[in-house]
Amino acid sequence: MTASPSLPRAEFHAAAERFGTPLYVYDAAELDAALARVRAAFGEARVFYALKANPNLTLIARLRAAGVGFECVSAGEIARAEHVGAEGGSILVNGPAKSREEYEAGARLGATFIVDREEEARLLPPGSRALVRVNPALSVSTHDHLATGAAGSKFGVTPEQAPGVLRALREAGHTALGLHVHIGSAIRLATDFGAAFARLAGLRAHTGELEVLDVGGGWGLGADLPGIAREAREAAGAFGAEVWVEPGRYLVARAGTLLTRVVGTKRTGRNFLLTDAGMTELLRPMLYGAVHPLTPLWDGGAEETWDVAGPACESGDLLARDVTLPLPHPGDLLAVGDAGAYGAAMSGTYLTRPRPAEALWEGGEWRLIRRRETPQEVWAAEV
Ligand code: LLP
Repeated sequence: MTASPSLPRAEFHAAAERFGTPLYVYDAAELDAALARVRAAFGEARVFYALKANPNLTLIARLRAAGVGFECVSAGEIARAEHVGAEGGSILVNGPAKSREEYEAGARLGATFIVDREEEARLLPPGSRALVRVNPALSVSTHDHLATGAAGSKFGVTPEQAPGVLRALREAGHTALGLHVHIGSAIRLATDFGAAFARLAGLRAHTGELEVLDVGGGWGLGADLPGIAREAREAAGAFGAEVWVEPGRYLVARAGTLLTRVVGTKRTGRNFLLTDAGMTELLRPMLYGAVHPLTPLWDGGAEETWDVAGPACESGDLLARDVTLPLPHPGDLLAVGDAGAYGAAMSGTYLTRPRPAEALWEGGEWRLIRRRETPQEVWAAEV
């Protein structure tokens, strides 16, 4: 599968020359366009970016400047949100097993907590604002690892338990704003979302009116945003509630590209195209079988079918399988598309591979927004 990245080829070459590879690059215009699409579809809804998708400070500062809040799932993420000037009113603290540190940081900022189990009514700092996460126990069309709203997932309380948890929060002196649902990630069908939201709306008789219905994120690239928004408004209407949303991937994926250089090729019954990036830079193909569009940035020889493999000593270290690409030469540049979400964010230092650099294309120029780590930084905390 190939697709054209949004920037001219020459600019990708310039970035790779200047900053080295593997390199994550982002197109600011596409970041802005994604937010505009969300706002066009969801109108008045409040937007909390799930910053796990890409927590780079430059990117989240841009979103902050555009009036976007943050959904945070760790003390580290709360600290990032605070670092770019987010106030409590624009921070959600979420997670199935929050630490004391996370409760304290959220309380200090006046954040809203997303409660994942009834016991949290006793664990929340006094006078907290809270939403109750409901697991609608529906099967949705995505990878098993990404189906958080499926029966048996660890997230949220059952629909039957939710009204009681709202009551428990109020009895403990907290402000229970409403309900929260997030059914999974990389979901395209508005009907999947509609079924989940309707499950929550069905609780109206037991909850009474609510201030907020937070419908989470999970929108796959190419998802029917207007359709999802319609379903959200309809469900929120049942409660007289306003809609909150928590997109992660949708806001950043398209804007990001992983640039990797071809190291060489080899033929052992299968054709391998070896690259200087692999599972340590982009884990999604290995972890979820994710398919990222590949664009060869070289003038091609004859096309062949390749497995694109990284440098790690693991046989699962593949960026793609069975893709058709022209014969490359060592040093040629390959663009791995739709890599702005959960790419750099999930890169790791396994094999003492320093995490890649990141650069932003904005106003007709490249700007480094994260320099490449050094091996010394990878082991710096060891004693
Ligand atoms: N809200 C909640 C409560 C979430 O758990 C998540 C993602 C989001 C919002 C944002 O979901 P998004 O709009 O990005 O789909 N590492 C995986 C994705 C894991 C998502 C976890 N939760 C991947 O690479 O596909």
